[in-house]
Amino acid sequence: MDRTPFEGPSRRHVIGAAAGLAAAPAVAAAADAAPAPPSAKSGQVDMTLNVNGQTRRGTMDVRTTLLDALRDHLDQTGSKKGCDQGQCGACTVHVDGERVLSCLTLAVAVEGRRITTIEGLADADGSLHPMQQAFIDQDGFQCGYCTPGQIMSAVACVNEGHAASDDDIREYMSGNLCRCAAYPKIVAAIKQARGRMPAKSQMGQV
Ligand code: FES
Ligand code: FES
Repeated sequence: MDRTPFEGPSRRHVIGAAAGLAAAPAVAAAADAAPAPPSAKSGQVDMTLNVNGQTRRGTMDVRTTLLDALRDHLDQTGSKKGCDQGQCGACTVHVDGERVLSCLTLAVAVEGRRITTIEGLADADGSLHPMQQAFIDQDGFQCGYCTPGQIMSAVACVNEGHAASDDDIREYMSGNLCRCAAYPKIVAAIKQARGRMPAKSQMGQV
C-alpha cells in the first residue's frame, strides 16, 4: 500500500515521499479511451482529518483504515493494533465523541469529523484525564497494550451512562479484551473516574 505523509502544522517529521510516489508509468492508451484521473488510477484520494483538534490534510490510499492512518501517517501510535478485525478493542478511538473501532473504520469515512485518540485525552497543560489517572491509581494494567483502547472505551462508557454498576461496566466494556486479565482493576478504575469526569458538554463528547 502506498503511503503518503500527511502535512499539518504540528507534524514532527516528514517521510521522504519520493520513493513511494514514483509517477505511474506512461500507458499507451487506446486512441478512443478517455484518460482516467490520476487519483482514480492510483487509488489515492485527498482527505482532511480532524485529529485531537488539529486539521490534517493529505493524500492516501482510499482503502486505508483510520487505525493505519493514525499510526502510519499521523504519528499517533497510541491506538494499538491487536487483532485488526474488530475483536479486541485495542484500536478504540472516539469519532464525534462516540467510540469506534478504528481498525474497522475507513479513514475517508470520517473525513471532517472530530477524531479523538488517547493522545488527545489529557488537557493541553499535560494534566491527565480523570480516567487516565484512575487507571494509574488502581493499577488497571499490566503490559499496557490494551490500555489506550480500554481508557477510550471507559470514557465513553461513563459518558453513555453505562457505568452505574459493576455489571454495567463489565457488559459495556466487554468489547475490550485484556490478555493480562486486569479486568477487576479496570472496573475499579472506571468506578473511581466516573464521579470525577467533566460534564459531557464540557468535554465536547457524548
Ligand atoms: Fe481493532 Fe482489535 S485492533 S478491534
Ligand atoms: Fe496487558 Fe491488558 S494490560 S493486555
